[in-house]
Amino acid sequence: MLHNFGSGPAKLHKSVYEQLANALIDYEQTGLSILEVYHRTPLYEAILEEAIQLCKELYLLDDSKEVLFMPNGATWHFNLIAQNFLQQKAAYIHTGNWSKKAYDIALEYGKAEIIASSENNNFKTLPIVAQDLSGYDYVHITANNTDVGTQFHSYPKSSISLVADMSSDIFSKPLPINDFALIYAGAQKNIGIAGASLVIIDKAFIKNTNSLTPSYYQYKNWVNANSIMNTPPIFAIYAMLVNMRWIKAMGGLEFMHAQAKEKATLLYHTLDNSNLFEVYAQEQDRSLMNVCFSMKDPSLHHSFLHVAKEAGIIQIEGYRTVGGFRVSLYNAIELSSVKHLCNVITAFDQNPH
Ligand SMILES: Cc1ncc(COP(=O)(O)O)c(C=O)c1O
Repeated sequence: MLHNFGSGPAKLHKSVYEQLANALIDYEQTGLSILEVYHRTPLYEAILEEAIQLCKELYLLDDSKEVLFMPNGATWHFNLIAQNFLQQKAAYIHTGNWSKKAYDIALEYGKAEIIASSENNNFKTLPIVAQDLSGYDYVHITANNTDVGTQFHSYPKSSISLVADMSSDIFSKPLPINDFALIYAGAQKNIGIAGASLVIIDKAFIKNTNSLTPSYYQYKNWVNANSIMNTPPIFAIYAMLVNMRWIKAMGGLEFMHAQAKEKATLLYHTLDNSNLFEVYAQEQDRSLMNVCFSMKDPSLHHSFLHVAKEAGIIQIEGYRTVGGFRVSLYNAIELSSVKHLCNVITAFDQNPH
């Protein structure tokens, strides 16, 4: 049996795959594959409408929010956010490679400043963010740092519009999305498959759109077109819907959070109690989604990778600029897989070879 701990595209639950497979052959007994469903039909309208409603329901979104299902991944939003909302200057919180990428892209469009950073300790903790920010168009935060394994467990309270990249912790727990001006996430981790993204945007914030932004790139126009500016990635959006239905049926976000805590606690405990392994992030800021660690003796890296592979444990190599190992614990990862991994870690710790 394979245990895929990849960071994304990530594993979804088998029942989700089964429904997607059925929809590929015959979508809800229509005689059509989901791949040939035309987007300006009641069939697709029903998919989109249910996806929007389910997202609102899971996150208890109030009427001030618009939900968009858009093509492309999170990187596109690094661009769109700056294109739409960077007018004077924007603030970025720097917590790893993804926040840096978002910041660097913002600089291509205008003035951006890093207002808090944990670079001086290699992103092993999260920085303290000042509460009295003013004079910025928005402040951008990466809610979960997939590359280094840190996660914000609370968010800066600021009068400035808060924008968050939630690519790697959306749908893993209840999140105070009503407090954000905009959140975005690539779909291929906890929401669905690659090729689409989710955006939740505040109606008042949309009014700040830079009118010089080309029309296709204005969130405002995506809202007005109900996410259909051109042929949407229907299969990817349908996958998000099927996965959200699964999340709801399993017990919703509270349930996912409880599971995530159980899985992460077990793995961190195993690593912290080992002699040979070392967790990357410091305890208070550790992520429940991405557990990053390494061998204290780097010469054992490949031996452990080999032992893990022999035990069916795959896609645990760390982010390319961080190294070490990274185990992603998204919703569809079974507790039994985590227990298996912990047993392999403990056995290797006692008898490295
Ligand atoms: C936190 C975070 N932001 C952004 C991205 C980039 O996402 P995409 O490939 O969808 O553009 C990733 C990818 O892993 C990520 O983990």
